[in-house]
Amino acid sequence: MAQKIADDSTLLNIPEQLAKYEDIHLHKGSVKFMPPIRSMECRDDDIFVTSYPKCGTTWMQAIVWLVTSDPDTSSTIMSNSSASLDELVPMLEWPLQKSDFNDLKGSPDVGLRDWNKMASPRLMKTHIPFHLLSPDITKQRKTPKIVYISRNPKDMCVSDHKFLSGFSCWSASEHMYLEMSFEKYLENWFDGIVSFGDYFTHNMEFWERRDWDNILFVKYEDLLQDPHREVTRVARFLGKDLSSERIHQITQETMFSRMKQNNVLNNSHWKTIHQRETPFHRKGKCGNWKKHFTVAQSERMDALYKQRFAGKCGDWKKHF
Ligand code: A3P
Repeated sequence: MAQKIADDSTLLNIPEQLAKYEDIHLHKGSVKFMPPIRSMECRDDDIFVTSYPKCGTTWMQAIVWLVTSDPDTSSTIMSNSSASLDELVPMLEWPLQKSDFNDLKGSPDVGLRDWNKMASPRLMKTHIPFHLLSPDITKQRKTPKIVYISRNPKDMCVSDHKFLSGFSCWSASEHMYLEMSFEKYLENWFDGIVSFGDYFTHNMEFWERRDWDNILFVKYEDLLQDPHREVTRVARFLGKDLSSERIHQITQETMFSRMKQNNVLNNSHWKTIHQRETPFHRKGKCGNWKKHFTVAQSERMDALYKQRFAGKCGDWKKHF
């Protein structure tokens, strides 16, 4: 039977759930994976999907996987629901696999994947900020391709709050879920008590390097507005000369309604640890924040946005 955490607690600031790693907070379960990740040997043909959480990572994972896969192979995999994006494009700092979700007894103590054993080209996902990635990347010793997907912070916060509400606590002896108001969530967010560090710093680290040959900066809102154009950008960046028909096919296969229905692409196995019914594919829109932010919260975010991005990082204003 799921147990409720007191209303003023949050998954993000329960001390046993978060730990400090260097200058950021991380979920405790991820901290132990950091030293090997930081000394990871990258390859020039590696592909990383990177993002701050809840900015469209899963969508980009699916796009990158499809862009780099043989169409027949990917369509066979997609019709066989034993696969999942967690396995096709695994997460560096949270190496759970679909099969691990069925047998969770409180702790995701599943050990680190042996990245060295993964065949090239390796597709991987991570939320780790740029400065904490392997020096092979930060010092440009290797040039793996990095696709960064960003999203306006208001929608990101609403999505994250919905995602975390109902997230079980690993360290609890039995499943516990989170009761946290959006107001409390935002307070923590503004105070920087969040996994993977500050949203603005995270974005800026990639934005400032967007002209590097091996970094592509994509916005969730642009992808939503013109998927054909953005998927073409991703394909070209990854060195794939795909026909317009194939690009169209990929945009269709990765549209919200299709991904939501496809058990390979919809992270449905996460329900094992989510004790509530909020599906991973929740709204898939831009502007849902308007239903959740108060005027004061919105103005506070606008002010911070202005101060931190100051005309950089593209312009989300039209989506605000
Ligand atoms: P919402 O909660 O606003 O619906 P991430 O994968 O980084 O965790 O991001 C999850 C967010 O991306 C969720 O946002 C989810 O619905 C949205 N998303 C996932 N696939 C999508 C798609 N194909 N089209 C649009 N949004 C998508």
